[in-house]
Amino acid sequence: MTEARLRILVLGSAAGGGLPQWNCGCANCRRARRGEIPARTQSSVAASADGERWAIVNASPDLRLQLAATPALHPRGLRHSPVEAVLVTNGDIDHVAGLLSLRERQPFALHATAETTEILKANPMTRALDPEVVAWRQVAPGAAFELAPGLEAELFAVPGKVPLYMEEGEVRSDLEGGQTVGVRLSAGGGDAYYVPGCARMTPALAGRLQGAPLVLFDGTLWDDDEMVRMGTGTKTGRRMGHMPIGGGDGSLAALAPLGVGVKVYVHINNTNPVLDPASPERRAVEEAGWIVAEDGMELMP
Ligand code: MLT
Ligand code: MN
Ligand code: ZN
Repeated sequence: MTEARLRILVLGSAAGGGLPQWNCGCANCRRARRGEIPARTQSSVAASADGERWAIVNASPDLRLQLAATPALHPRGLRHSPVEAVLVTNGDIDHVAGLLSLRERQPFALHATAETTEILKANPMTRALDPEVVAWRQVAPGAAFELAPGLEAELFAVPGKVPLYMEEGEVRSDLEGGQTVGVRLSAGGGDAYYVPGCARMTPALAGRLQGAPLVLFDGTLWDDDEMVRMGTGTKTGRRMGHMPIGGGDGSLAALAPLGVGVKVYVHINNTNPVLDPASPERRAVEEAGWIVAEDGMELMP
């Protein structure tokens, strides 16, 4: 037995839509199509305590390509997968559509909160993940559990909202419950916190992240009104459940005093100027000690 050590692989560092996004002609998407900046697939990480048996946190629509691009996740037998568990942090399409690519009668455990499980179960297509093969596990925030061998996970509520496709009437974007969660991943004494969606910093979340060795955090937008201003959308980041990076109440300022060891932006929208290595925004986040995640990046706290 090798000694347990937490390993995190960034499978996809982009927000929903990816980089480039199929219907987007913004400056970053055009640069990515020309190969001037790295393309990025949609939001997902893999985690392992032993490098052999892995959990995937968030099943993006790009999961099939992400698995193909990651040798540690390739089968080691005629019918086999090192992926023993999947955990989803909300019901957003960029975090669950990849479940449909895992439908080939391969056993794994599928972890989600009661709220997200209910949404998944309401969609008849998820019957493809037959409970006789796939173990559906409801997990509650605040209760630690073994996600994969030697890999502990604990969910915690972060401000967020129901998935876009479930929105009805007046939408609250800062609900704190099981609809949007972050996750602590721990193995061999190392801890990482993965929070790909967060509408605002709360004292409870700040307290939890205080002094953490590694935090992967919502880097969707630089400015709250970035998509409105650029003409690529009509909603602010906060309305979509994502606090911005910049500004007085952005994540750069919110995490600055928390003494986090390594800070990594993930779930980055294609409009975000930090994606351009030559931008002043990229310089600002790097000067503040942040890493802008790229697909394939490996992190060990
Ligand atoms: C989000 O992160 O806001 C969602 O992924 C948006 C979406 O469902 O497209
Ligand atoms: Mn998303
Ligand atoms: Zn774009």
